[in-house]
Amino acid sequence: MLRYHIWTIGCQMNRAESQRMADYLDSAGCQAATGFSDADLVVLNTCVVRQSAENKVLGTLGLLKGLKGQSHGLRILVTGCFVDSDTHNVTARFPEVELAFRPGDNEALVAWCEEQGITVKRKESISQVSSPCAFVPIIQGCDNYCSYCIVPYRRGSEISRPVVDIICEVEELAERGIREATLLGQNVDSYGHDLPGRPDLADLLTELGSIDALARIRFLTNHPKDISLKLIDTVACSEKVCEHFQLPVQAGDDDILRAMRRGYTAEQYREIVQTIRRRMTLVSLSTDIIVGFPGETEEQFGHTYSLIENLRFDVVHVAAYSPRPDAAASREYQDDVPQPVKRERLARIEALQAGIAGEINAQMRGRPVEVLVEGKKQGRWFGRTRSDKLVFFEDPGDWLGRLVTIQIERTSPWSLGGWLLINS
Ligand code: SAH
Ligand code: SF4
Ligand code: F3S
Repeated sequence: MLRYHIWTIGCQMNRAESQRMADYLDSAGCQAATGFSDADLVVLNTCVVRQSAENKVLGTLGLLKGLKGQSHGLRILVTGCFVDSDTHNVTARFPEVELAFRPGDNEALVAWCEEQGITVKRKESISQVSSPCAFVPIIQGCDNYCSYCIVPYRRGSEISRPVVDIICEVEELAERGIREATLLGQNVDSYGHDLPGRPDLADLLTELGSIDALARIRFLTNHPKDISLKLIDTVACSEKVCEHFQLPVQAGDDDILRAMRRGYTAEQYREIVQTIRRRMTLVSLSTDIIVGFPGETEEQFGHTYSLIENLRFDVVHVAAYSPRPDAAASREYQDDVPQPVKRERLARIEALQAGIAGEINAQMRGRPVEVLVEGKKQGRWFGRTRSDKLVFFEDPGDWLGRLVTIQIERTSPWSLGGWLLINS
């Protein structure tokens, strides 16, 4: 029996695609290995959003080349954003790689399996449900071409999945015990613009809301230039859609935002946040920030810092600018902010945010929250609130996949802890 190992880095889209590949391989009777060393087949699902991610891919390819040298049987496949439109570039550069295929191109994987005499049963692949949460891609690719970003070059232009396909998939998942579906896209606000009748994300959320067995629906990522009042209203009114927005701002300075080609100003962004908060009191917000974009002065960085200070996000993901081949910024601008300055700005945002998140989470102390239990880590159950906060609790019962109420007694900037109050 063929043992496989899928190595995954990058965003949730990659995690969703790795899960799909695992389902295919399981359906063909293959077995998951525990790691590289006991695998016959390795699939690398890669990310190149920053040079550091690309370096990890190169390091892993080097390691596997060594392993393949010791065991001639090892088969290596590569997918994800390391692979560009000319997939042969990868196999030419890395002869140890047998097949490279574009992210999401499962047909290429299935065809390869079939050539090897491995028969994949596409639909009926019933994998064991180990978590009650599933990711569901709704739109592939990206048409935004933010100047720093490599994603549109690697994932191609936007293609929405038809509403019926998504509903069928989520119904099937719900039958298999999935209670929470997270809809994925680089920009979920452009969902549907390429479909007949132009359904949008709000329409899709309304349809999915009627699937009885499903308890919660999430979606990411929103784009500030495209998010609509209709969507905000739908989230506010829907029982199942969780009150959480992942709304990357990237910078708080208008000149930097313009150079990033984001399509909004800091003021417009603040207005969206106000609209969301006026409509929903318990909403949580997370954002992404890039520090050290070409030419970023101390004053411009200060605008980003004060935006974070004023808007008080629940979560901030911060990264140092990394020039990417193809992306416009790496052709048009010098990567002129010195590395130590980038590191220092990154640390300042992280310290600021740790303080803010610590204060926001401390307000949860003594309160009951609804948690969907996702699993167990080191003897403790964990799950998330509707606002996407990680909660730990201890209890001898079996709570996997259940909605429980936890009384919060401990908080940190990153998680909450408490005890089981009631269950439903
Ligand atoms: N489509 C999403 C996610 C894109 S990639 C969005 O629009 O936000 C995830 C994050 O990586 C981005 O939000 C951005 O903050 C960061 N990122 C993208 N390219 C980068 C680069 N060249 N250098 C540093 N961070 C980058
Ligand atoms: Fe990249 Fe911008 Fe598209 Fe996000 S919206 S994937 S940052 S180009
Ligand atoms: Fe990385 Fe591609 Fe996702 S570059 S962040 S895996 S879209």
